[in-house]
Amino acid sequence: MQTVHTISDTKSIIAQAKRDGKTIGLVPTMGYFHEGHLSLMHQARAENDFVVVSIFVNPMQFGPSEDLDAYPRDLNHDSKMAEDAGVDLIFNPMPEEMYPDGFHTSVYVDKLTEGLCGESRPGHFKGVTTVVLKLFNIVGADRAYFGRKDYQQLTVIRRMVADLNVPIQIVPMPIFREPDKLAMSSRNIFLSPEERRAALVLSKSIEYAQSLVLGGVTRAHELGLRVVEFISKEPLAQIDYVSIVDPDTLDNVTEINDEAVLALAVRIGKTRLIDNALLKR
Ligand code: PAJ
Repeated sequence: MQTVHTISDTKSIIAQAKRDGKTIGLVPTMGYFHEGHLSLMHQARAENDFVVVSIFVNPMQFGPSEDLDAYPRDLNHDSKMAEDAGVDLIFNPMPEEMYPDGFHTSVYVDKLTEGLCGESRPGHFKGVTTVVLKLFNIVGADRAYFGRKDYQQLTVIRRMVADLNVPIQIVPMPIFREPDKLAMSSRNIFLSPEERRAALVLSKSIEYAQSLVLGGVTRAHELGLRVVEFISKEPLAQIDYVSIVDPDTLDNVTEINDEAVLALAVRIGKTRLIDNALLKR
């Protein structure tokens, strides 16, 4: 496995892989790997001849009061994990490499970015789509792998790829969870033991919602209220949003007919966690 820090090194290594007739899989990340990240790498390994993982804590997607500086980083440990997962190349640029002096362009997907996380994190998705399109252009991959854990992010990236005719296949991957069902996240290390226990309220509230739907509660308004009530019983939890949305448009639904996504953002202490699931009738 090679690790490079410049765009030109990345391009020349990938050009050689392509000359050798290899297909390219890309896993964009911000590092500090957990098994959710590894599941994306394993899938990329299974479906491509050459696997590239980018590790870049992208300043453009963090708001001024967010955790850019505190975001966990451990390149040595990440490198070992990526190597074990069969990754061929790590691209780990510095911010100056991605955003040199004079950088002034951004990519913005509207509407889909307005609700859910877009509401409390203005500018966040503009940073995500801009860096992801740059990574797509640098790597020129055949396929890129994204987790459903960040459901809105996945939806927004699929929209960008379709709208801008980006020649890449987006592969969505299931949410990887701890044995007690907490969705894996690089931010889980910020949780104290007491908060770690309280954080289970996210996955538990999703299970509760699914059981309500199967029990006949299919009006989204009522379901939303019941989920809010459930989460509010946890003293350490502070709700950012509880939304029940159409899986493609992310518009709020009124009735759970076919399929709807329950999406949550909840602060546990200072740590903001997200989770979601497709609710089935
Ligand atoms: P990051 O949070 O590091 O996540 C990288 C990828 O791993 C994303 O596609 C995310 O959805 C996926 N992932 C995270 N936790 C997961 C879990 N528990 N199960 C399955 N997949 C999981 O998302 C980002 O980085 C950035 O926004 C990025 C796309 C790299 C752009 O900067």
